[in-house]
Amino acid sequence: MEKTKKASESLTIMTNIVLPNETNSLRNLFGGELLAKMDRCASISAARHCERRVVTASVNHVSFDHPIPEGGIVVLESKVSRAFSTSMEIYVDVWLDDPINQKKIHTNSGIYTFVAVDEFNRPIPIPQMTPETDQEKERFEAALRRKELSLILSGRMKATDSVELKKLFGS
Ligand SMILES: CC(C)(COP(=O)(O)OP(=O)(O)OC[C@H]1O[C@@H](n2cnc3c(N)ncnc32)[C@H](O)[C@@H]1OP(=O)(O)O)[C@@H](O)C(=O)NCCC(=O)NCCS
Repeated sequence: MEKTKKASESLTIMTNIVLPNETNSLRNLFGGELLAKMDRCASISAARHCERRVVTASVNHVSFDHPIPEGGIVVLESKVSRAFSTSMEIYVDVWLDDPINQKKIHTNSGIYTFVAVDEFNRPIPIPQMTPETDQEKERFEAALRRKELSLILSGRMKATDSVELKKLFGS
């Protein structure tokens, strides 16, 4: 597919308040609830990029760096970080927004892979993606390494066939 899109065209922002039924015994947002929100946000970015229906192929990395308390305002921001042939990597950043003290804390991030599919669930080609900002360029560069790692961990690629990881660790 010839079409190229900007990363910013897939930007998706979701803002929610943490309700009591979403919390764990410490009254912080339950990890699984956050994962579901991140998956939803990422899927919208993926669909915005490829203008097709998409499925989650892999959750490549998620970190939980800071708890999000009940009543907290959670802001999720996602964008496509790189498009491959039929798959794309989506980077999701999560923030705890405190409008009273005017603070915004980065609480965690996640990296997802989505695949564009046709009505028979077969992968289909997607537009390429051009990074513009320094952060978009950095994430774009590292995405191929992460794709190889994800394929190796899921048994879809032999470690010996990797190109980017070999460059990183030496062959
Ligand atoms: C995702 C899915 C469509 C891939 O189908 P497939 O027949 O295995 O297709 P392919 O092997 O051609 O892979 C398609 C693309 O996904 C990528 N991919 C597949 N698994 C991947 C993984 N674990 N990590 C990273 N990329 C992956 C492939 O590298 C390929 O990318 P490219 O075309 O951009 O190079 C299929 O496995 C599926 O439908 N899975 C279930 C999805 C789902 O239901 N998700 C919701 C879970 S609740």
